[in-house]
Amino acid sequence: RKSAVIAVDGPAGAGKSTVARLLADRLGYLYLDTGAMYRALAYKALSEGIDLRDEAELAELLNQTTIELYPKGHGQVTVMMDGQDVTGHLRTPEVNASVAVVAGFPLVRREMVLRQRELARHGGVVMDGRDIGTFVLPDADIKFFLTASLEARAERRYHELRQAGFDVSLDRIREEIQHRDLLDSSRPYAPLSQAADAILLDTTKMEVEEVVERMLAMCDQRL
Ligand code: C5P
Repeated sequence: RKSAVIAVDGPAGAGKSTVARLLADRLGYLYLDTGAMYRALAYKALSEGIDLRDEAELAELLNQTTIELYPKGHGQVTVMMDGQDVTGHLRTPEVNASVAVVAGFPLVRREMVLRQRELARHGGVVMDGRDIGTFVLPDADIKFFLTASLEARAERRYHELRQAGFDVSLDRIREEIQHRDLLDSSRPYAPLSQAADAILLDTTKMEVEEVVERMLAMCDQRL
């Protein structure tokens, strides 16, 4: 089906964006990275020196901010904020350290969720995040919940950041991921959690291609 809606949720570093991107590519769907939207807001707040604990100010900032996600082929995505390409600024240690705080505020989430539902309105999308299957798109046609051991997730992030040229340590990354997961799963409003009807995939010992093939098989079965 060309118009299905697929939700992919899970903790940090479980491989969601990599596989969601490839899955979207294979299905000819649009890949929507909701984490990038929260990251863009966190990046803007950091650049403008806004107090990250100030919910009202962050919500106001978001109202004055346009965020667009453009596919640029091969599953890659360009993130435009206020008309500027900010893709390269969103996966820095600074943004990693503050995004979950920004994303914890109901006023911020409410607006993000409206935007995300609008993006998915016509279907034909794979949307990845934390609350897609439970909150943003509870009627999604297929929901996946990706996990992996903390160690595997930390190592993946470590290699990703190293490759991008950041001088980071595995210990710091493990801590950062653990901290972010704790914030994401313990926030009162739309926390990270597995939807009752989501398919659980533990990717600890799986290669990317294997995960994508499994997901495609499920889509074949169900769509
Ligand atoms: O997926 P990614 O690691 O880019 O997400 C960054 C952060 O954005 C998450 O740790 C979480 O705090 C927030 N987020 C969220 N809800 C989503 C997607 C991301 O709260 N749907």
